[in-house]
Amino acid sequence: MADISQTFRTSIALPGLAATGALGAGVAAGLRVGDCVALWGDLGAGKTTLARAILQALGVREDVPSPTFTLVQSYETPHLAVSHYDLYRLKSAREMRELGFDDALLDGAVLVEWPERAPEALPPDALHVRLALQDGVRTARLTGPARWESLLHV
Ligand SMILES: Nc1ncnc2c1ncn2[C@@H]1O[C@H](COP(=O)(O)OP(=O)(O)OP(=O)(O)O)[C@@H](O)[C@H]1O
Ligand SMILES: [Mg+2]
Repeated sequence: MADISQTFRTSIALPGLAATGALGAGVAAGLRVGDCVALWGDLGAGKTTLARAILQALGVREDVPSPTFTLVQSYETPHLAVSHYDLYRLKSAREMRELGFDDALLDGAVLVEWPERAPEALPPDALHVRLALQDGVRTARLTGPARWESLLHV
């Protein structure tokens, strides 16, 4: 059965950091409390770079480091609270509770690198961004709820 919460689909070329910045601004413009942005992609695909672009578009002025070791880094932005997760080093799906994932979704939005480490934690209406670097060409494939359609034709 088709998943009605995943009706938006597009593919975007990311030839440089400016293109990632524009995509990040589009995501930031639509981000609401309860949203999850799942950032898929191999090592070095550009997940942290896009998370940083989203946070900077939301007005974060401080550094946005990769939360590789802390697993989560939280930000208060003028618009909403955002928690940036990197689940690469997650030991078990149970750890998601200790990391406050459900509360972070109740209180704000979440950005998740390596979502494949805890796929069952992702809400069904997540925006999925699949980043790829192939033969020197970077692309983002997006799927998610229809409301993203008007925001993400960047
Ligand atoms: N659109 C882009 N154009 C050019 N370079 C980019 C682009 N996006 C990311 N990069 C570069 O690719 C490198 C890896 O990016 P990044 O750290 O965001 O990847 P990642 O997917 O988070 O990696 P990891 O799996 O280690 O978390 C960085 O040097 C970054 O500047
Ligand atoms: Mg990263």
